[in-house]
Amino acid sequence: METLVVDHPLVAHKLTALRDVRTDSPTFRRLADELVTLLAYEATRDVRVIDQTVDTPLAPAHGVRLARPAPLVVPILRAGLGMLDGMTRLLPTAEVGFLGMIRDESTLKAQTYATRLPEDLSGRQCYVLDPMLATGGTLAAAVQFLFDRGADDVTAICLLAAPEGIAHMDDAFKGSGRPVRLVTAALDERLNEQGYIMPGLGDAGDRLYGVV
Ligand code: URA
Repeated sequence: METLVVDHPLVAHKLTALRDVRTDSPTFRRLADELVTLLAYEATRDVRVIDQTVDTPLAPAHGVRLARPAPLVVPILRAGLGMLDGMTRLLPTAEVGFLGMIRDESTLKAQTYATRLPEDLSGRQCYVLDPMLATGGTLAAAVQFLFDRGADDVTAICLLAAPEGIAHMDDAFKGSGRPVRLVTAALDERLNEQGYIMPGLGDAGDRLYGVV
C-alpha cells in the first residue's frame, strides 16, 4: 500500500496533544477535526479537477474546478464520524456515504452492519475515514466493500497506523490491480495483546464519544 506519513510540525503538535491522556473529550474532538483537515490537504493532492476559465475583474484567468462525479467520503462508524467535518471542510462538495463495521467476536472478522452508499462507485474517488489502522481487518473489509461496488481509486485517511495494519492491507490487496493509498499522521511501533496501537492514543471512539 502506498503510504504517506505526513511530516509537518502542526500535524506532530496536534497528534501529541491527541495522544495525551489528560486531553478531555471536547478538546480531543477539536484536535482530531483539525488534524484531519491537515491530512485531507495531502490526501487530496490527486483529486480530479478539470480546466476552467474565470473572469477576474481585469481579465480571464485559467483555473480548475473539481471534476464530476464528486468525490465520495466514507467514514467508518463509529469513530470515523469524528473525522467527517474535518474532511468536508476541505471538500464541501463531496458526497458522504456511511459504512458501519463491527468485529464478529466468534470469527474475528469485520462485518458490515450498516451501509448508505451509492450502488455503483465506478469512476468515483473515495476517501475512507478510520482513525486507527490497527489490525487492518476493518479497513480491509471496508475497502473491499467499495471495490465490490466498482470503486478503483481509494484513499484511506487514518490518524495513526500500526505496521501490522499496513502489512494486512498489503496482503489483502496485492495483485488486486486496484491500489489503495494511506495517508496518516504517524506510523507507531506495534499492536499490544489487546490489539491497541502502541503507544497510540487509546480507544479513539471512546475518547471522541465516551464509553457507551
Ligand atoms: N482502535 C482504537 O480506537 N485504538 C487502537 O489503538 C486500536 C484500534
